[in-house]
Amino acid sequence: MIDAIPSRTAAFVAAARSYGALLPADARLIDDPYGARFAARGRFDPAPPALAVRHVAPLRSWVLYMQVRTRVLDDALAAFVAAGGRQVVLLGAGYDARALRFAELLRDSRVFEVDHPATQGHKRRVLARAALSAPAVRYVTWDFEERPLAELAETLAAAGHDATRPTLTIWEGVTMYLTPRAIDASVRAIRGWSAAGSALAITYVTRDAIERPGFAVRATRAVVGAIGEPWRFGWNPGELAPYLEARGFALRSDASIADEAMRLLPARYARGVGRLGQRVAVGTSGESIAVAAST
Ligand SMILES: C[S@@+](CC[C@H](N)C(=O)[O-])C[C@H]1O[C@@H](n2cnc3c(N)ncnc32)[C@H](O)[C@@H]1O
Repeated sequence: MIDAIPSRTAAFVAAARSYGALLPADARLIDDPYGARFAARGRFDPAPPALAVRHVAPLRSWVLYMQVRTRVLDDALAAFVAAGGRQVVLLGAGYDARALRFAELLRDSRVFEVDHPATQGHKRRVLARAALSAPAVRYVTWDFEERPLAELAETLAAAGHDATRPTLTIWEGVTMYLTPRAIDASVRAIRGWSAAGSALAITYVTRDAIERPGFAVRATRAVVGAIGEPWRFGWNPGELAPYLEARGFALRSDASIADEAMRLLPARYARGVGRLGQRVAVGTSGESIAVAAST
């Protein structure tokens, strides 16, 4: 991403999460009243009319896609806490509002939000202006491309993280923007702070979508590339298990967003969701706990 500019893709996905409120009731899987605040800038009114969200196909599929992706990871979070987990790392947190949305569930937990300083700075200013605070959150700034992730464990520890207790690391909507070097360093570092009973929940796009993009992927990549956040990295599904295994995680589940949409949504909404090759996977370290993201 471009230094000093808060992530625009983070603003876009956070707003798309909030727009879920404009969908028909049976298409809503999550509630995020906070996300659109981070996209509001100057004259730009981030709220499209409900008619557009319901009937303009590309907008509707993005909003539905965010409902599915967020819900699968919300379920992984709920399962982790139900199994006794009390530490969550949001890696590339962006405008993820889980600490606000699940304030009650996370009342005894610590949530470490790690992100680029420009994005996190914007998030904290918007929250402060709205007098919103999430008591569970500890903020940590990091540039994944500039600072070795191996050093992050120490910084997390200084912020109150205990690497001897289980941690759920959520890496949502980030892997596609990083280089293979940064991905490798990140997975190894995550493993370093993941005691037995920990889990890593990842969303990613397939390598095929990166290397042999169809029209829809080319259009999406042109947009995110033009705003300085090109898609660069993906795994094909069969590649993720050995990749994680070589770095100390067992792949617990790996599903396409398209399949998750069919599982979670009525079929008339699910069709066309996740067509860009997006997937969600959960890997566990040591004794696994009951996190599930698969169909
Ligand atoms: C598409 S956003 C996803 C945000 C959030 N996880 C979500 O799903 O709403 C990508 C995030 O990755 C972060 N990011 C991208 N490149 C980064 C880098 N080199 N260092 C730190 N963060 C980075 C951005 O700041 C942004 O918050």
